[in-house]
Amino acid sequence: MKEKKPYKPCDLVIYGALGDLSRRKLFISLYRLEHANLIEPETRITGVDRHEVNTTEFIEIARKSLQEFSSETLIDDVWDRFSARLSYVKMDLTQVEQYKVLNTVTDSNTRVLVNYFAVAPFLFKNICQGLAHSGVLTNESRMVMEKPIGHDLKSSQEINDEVAKVFSEDQVFRIDHYLGKETVLNLLALRFANSIFTTNWNHNTIDHIQITVAEEVGIEGRWEYFDKTGQLRDMLQNHLLQILTFIAMEPPVNLEANSIHNEKIKVLKALRPITSNNVDEKTVRGQYTGGYIKGANVPGYLEEEGADTKSTTESFVALRVDIDNWRWAGVPFYLRTGKRLMGKRTEIVVYFKQLPHNIFKDSFRDLPPNKLIIHLQPNEGVEIEMLNKIPGIDEHIKLQKTRLDLSFSDAFKKNRIFGGYEKLVLEAMRGNPTLFLSREEIEQAWTWVDSIQDAWRHYNESPKSYPAGTWGPIASVALLARDGRAWEE
Ligand code: BG6
Repeated sequence: MKEKKPYKPCDLVIYGALGDLSRRKLFISLYRLEHANLIEPETRITGVDRHEVNTTEFIEIARKSLQEFSSETLIDDVWDRFSARLSYVKMDLTQVEQYKVLNTVTDSNTRVLVNYFAVAPFLFKNICQGLAHSGVLTNESRMVMEKPIGHDLKSSQEINDEVAKVFSEDQVFRIDHYLGKETVLNLLALRFANSIFTTNWNHNTIDHIQITVAEEVGIEGRWEYFDKTGQLRDMLQNHLLQILTFIAMEPPVNLEANSIHNEKIKVLKALRPITSNNVDEKTVRGQYTGGYIKGANVPGYLEEEGADTKSTTESFVALRVDIDNWRWAGVPFYLRTGKRLMGKRTEIVVYFKQLPHNIFKDSFRDLPPNKLIIHLQPNEGVEIEMLNKIPGIDEHIKLQKTRLDLSFSDAFKKNRIFGGYEKLVLEAMRGNPTLFLSREEIEQAWTWVDSIQDAWRHYNESPKSYPAGTWGPIASVALLARDGRAWEE
């Protein structure tokens, strides 16, 4: 991954600057980059939206958003530096003519234009057309967009086609915020810088791998969006498949964007299709009912604000995934993700194979396998579960499971990335595409996920219910039990 520091100053233009994404994530990320002195002094940030506010009011909205959505206290001189970069332009994004105004607030001679599309995808086409019409784009300009990039292969192709009429592929930066998370990036280091793992990372030594992305939150007032989307498309098509590709890919020849993209695409192409022939045994869909999270009563999915009480959208999904290539032959990957689960937890557990012969029968009838547990969030770190002799001179050899525990916050006091966005916004401004998704990756992921969605539609079964505050429906336990395995709890 090439560090391009210092980088050329930017005109960062945020479309949808008063929307949810900007207020919850972008202002905070930019402020933190400012705090870390990572924004070029000449960089300017322009908010664009359809509401009638002036720059002073916009700056006030940004300040309030920082206070509302971040736990940090603003530091006066950092805030002064940051707010001095901000300006606001009112625009109706559907009106091509209005984009000409961008010529007055950007300067392509001294700054690179970075267009951040923080709006719903139906507006992408308008923005692209408006930008093309405005004459403000150069070969250096970039566009940043994020999920949902479509809701299936066809719609995603339509979006990508529209964008491709105006931006070449190397100008397009598609965000999956999980790729900005420190621990996801650390998977590259863990796998490709440590021979202990490199040499053991295949079907010879690994029995199976579990990936859990559990959320405590429900749908957070996003019924409109979520009910049309469901957990498979909201979380699995992107975040979980991204983690899976990092875990499963072959070593890239280097850290350049193309090398990494190519290896990830090979994994996505090797995913065994889940179709109506096997969807029953390979997938579980769930929907939460009311329950308790951290002692508080929370409503069920169908009781959420604005709910359609007949909805069969899934808020939980568990899958058995098989990768048809040499490395992973016979090694299932079990993926699960859901809202309103018992805790917020993103982790990968690698189960190594059991040893063929047990000489410690006094301690264990079957020797438990070694496990590598990678905590992505919260409490980022890596643990290895192994067997050790219980100390004591009068004891015969008796074994006990123990864990080697490496907590990243203890090991590295400095340079923590907060969420995923800071890193990604910075890389977009730097023009480094490594952590962004290629068009082919996204389309390949949709191809695989569409087949599951089609199979579900074919059977038209209701999701299995689970009480909020549990680990999902019982059927998810059965998914692994059928293979003689159990989820890591
Ligand atoms: C988003 C999903 O992409 O990721 C949300 O749309 C989800 O539904 C969120 O809650 C989870 O992100 P994180 O960083 O909190 O794990």
